[in-house]
Amino acid sequence: MVCGLKKWVFYSKINYRSGKKHIMDLKQLKKDAEIGISLIKNTSDLEKWRIKYLGRKSVLSLFFNSLSELSLKEKKKQGQKANAIRQLFSSLYKKRKNDLESNLSFSSNFIDITQPGEKIRQGHLHPLTSTLSDITNSFQKMGFSIIEGPEIETEYYNFDALNIPAGHPAREMFDTLWLRSNNKDKFLLRTHTSPMQVRFMETNQPPFRIIVPGKCFRYEATDASHEIQFHQIEGLMVGENISLSNFKAIIEEVVKDIFKHKVLVRFRPSYFPFVSPGVEVDIKLKQKGRSKIQDANEWLEIMGAGMVHPDLFKRVGYVTNRWQGFAFGLGVERIAMIKYHIDDIRLFFSSDIRFLEQF
Ligand code: PHE
Repeated sequence: MVCGLKKWVFYSKINYRSGKKHIMDLKQLKKDAEIGISLIKNTSDLEKWRIKYLGRKSVLSLFFNSLSELSLKEKKKQGQKANAIRQLFSSLYKKRKNDLESNLSFSSNFIDITQPGEKIRQGHLHPLTSTLSDITNSFQKMGFSIIEGPEIETEYYNFDALNIPAGHPAREMFDTLWLRSNNKDKFLLRTHTSPMQVRFMETNQPPFRIIVPGKCFRYEATDASHEIQFHQIEGLMVGENISLSNFKAIIEEVVKDIFKHKVLVRFRPSYFPFVSPGVEVDIKLKQKGRSKIQDANEWLEIMGAGMVHPDLFKRVGYVTNRWQGFAFGLGVERIAMIKYHIDDIRLFFSSDIRFLEQF
C-alpha cells in the first residue's frame, strides 16, 4: 500500500481513498505553515490556521493515521518526526496567539491604575558630610562664622606666611602635591586649612571667630589611618584677652555636643611654626564603645592647635600687642571614625555601597 515511503514522505489517506496517489513532503508542510502564520494579523485567521495545521482533519493528523500501515520500525521513525513538527506548530500557534493578544491590550491603551507605584529610594548623607555638619553646627552655636578657602593654594599661603620657609624642617610634615605652573608663584594642593588664617586676617579686623572646613591633600602612602585626601576644620578666634583656656572651654563644649556625652580633653605640648605655644589636643570618651579604638579607652588625638604666632599678626599688619588669638586644625575623618566606630579611613572614599548603606 505504501510505496516508496522515503524520509519525510507519506501517503495521504484521503488521496488514497480518492484513488489518487499523493505524496506529502513534511519539510514543505513545515515551510507552508511557517509562512502562513507569519502573515496572520487577527485571531480568526489564526483559528483557521490552527484547524488547517493542527486540527483533527489536518494533513498532519492524516499522516498520523496513515502510520498504522507502516512497519513497526518505520512507524516509530516517522512518528517521531511528525511529533516534532506537531510540537513546533503548537508552539508557533501559542506564540502568535500571545503576540496578537498583547497587541490588543496595547492598542486599547489599557492602564491598570490599581498597580502600586514604583518606590523611590531615599538617599542619605555621607558619614563625613553629616560629621562635618554636626561639627560646624556646634561651632555656629558658639558664634563662629563659616568661611571657605581655595583647595589650590600658593606656596606663600600654605607655607611661607605660616613661618615655614623653603628648607624649614616643618615642611617635611607636609608631603605636598605640587602643581605645574609657568608663573613665578608655585602652586600646590593645600596640605592643611591653615593658609586661610593669613588670607582671612589680611582682609578682616578683629575681633572675630571663624571656622574653615575643607578638603586637604597630602602626597602620602595610604593605609588604615592615612589618605591622600582628607578634611580639616580650621578655627581662628582673635580678640583682646583671648587665651588658651578660652580655647579649652570651647573645644570641651563642641566635643561634648558632637559625641552627645561627656568627653575628657587633654593638651600636649607640640610644635607648629605658626603658633606659640603649640599643642595637640587629645580626647577620651568616658562611655565604653564597640570599636577597638574606644575599648582600649585611650587618649585619641583629634587636632593641632595653639596661640597665633605674633609673626602672623605682624604679617597682616595688625597693631602690635593689641590682639591675641588661638587657632586649631581639627581632623574630620578622625572624629567620624571615633563616632561611627570606623577602623579604616580608606572606606570613606571607596564608594563601597555596603559601607555607605550602614549610615
Ligand atoms: N595645620 C596643622 C596641621 O595640619 C594643624 C594646626 C592648625 C596646628 C592650627 C596649629 C594651629 O597639622
